[in-house]
Amino acid sequence: METDFPHIDTSKPHPARVYDYLLGGKDNYLVDRQLAEQLPEHTKRGCQLNRSFMHRAAAWSARLGTTQFLDIGTGIPTPPNLHQVVQEIHPSARVVYADNDPLVMRHAQALMFSTPDGATDYVETDVREPERILEHAQDFLDFSRPVALSLIALMHFIVEEDDPYGIVRTLVDALAPGSHLILTHGTYDFHPEIEEEFNRTYRGGGMPLQLRTRAQVERFFDGLDLVEPGVVEACRWYRDTPPPPYEKNMLYVGVAQV
Ligand SMILES: C[S@@+](CC[C@H](N)C(=O)[O-])C[C@H]1O[C@@H](n2cnc3c(N)ncnc32)[C@H](O)[C@@H]1O
Repeated sequence: METDFPHIDTSKPHPARVYDYLLGGKDNYLVDRQLAEQLPEHTKRGCQLNRSFMHRAAAWSARLGTTQFLDIGTGIPTPPNLHQVVQEIHPSARVVYADNDPLVMRHAQALMFSTPDGATDYVETDVREPERILEHAQDFLDFSRPVALSLIALMHFIVEEDDPYGIVRTLVDALAPGSHLILTHGTYDFHPEIEEEFNRTYRGGGMPLQLRTRAQVERFFDGLDLVEPGVVEACRWYRDTPPPPYEKNMLYVGVAQV
């Protein structure tokens, strides 16, 4: 784990802290709360649906036998975190977390409470440097065996100029057959009326944001075997659990096998 003392700029909002506030957390500053309060009401619910999907998909992958996980864009820890979900199924599961927010780094201790048989690791880094993440993760995970890569509510912070599809391709290319890509992504497809307001709020806060259509989200899975039911709304994705109640929201989710 890298241990540079984190510098936190509290004059600008940050996605991790806005999300923390929307999930009901306390690790945020006035600027984050001010931005979050301007977002449409159902954004809050979307965050909860996103988190529930992450729990379902990670547990499903673990039940299929995955014991290694690489979670990028981890966020401020909100239990249960990914390692808690998967170590309940495989106490020996190993999880690498990565995020570019120094505040997440401050909470990395909470992410490091692994089962004695398993292990967790944290690296402060940017997904726009996928090679760096892989280099770090390779010391901790065995990439000759399946790894579940989770990019949960992350890629809509990566605008076209930063080559979001190329980034995901680089990460996926490092995965062995049988690995999984678990991804969620914001969309205006179901709420076109909020596009302008949403963009204005995030970009006004200095946060680049690029929500995408279903076809654009599907592109992240190009060349992979999309697991049924494909790229769908968060509450439409369940495999071995009862279906969650339907709720319209602004999130696409999908899982694919490498
Ligand atoms: C909306 S939160 C999602 C947190 C968690 N994955 C979840 O879904 O519960 C987005 C996270 O992505 C992180 N993030 C945003 N841009 C990033 C980047 N370029 N590289 C790495 N992490 C980034 C933020 O710091 C934040 O923690």
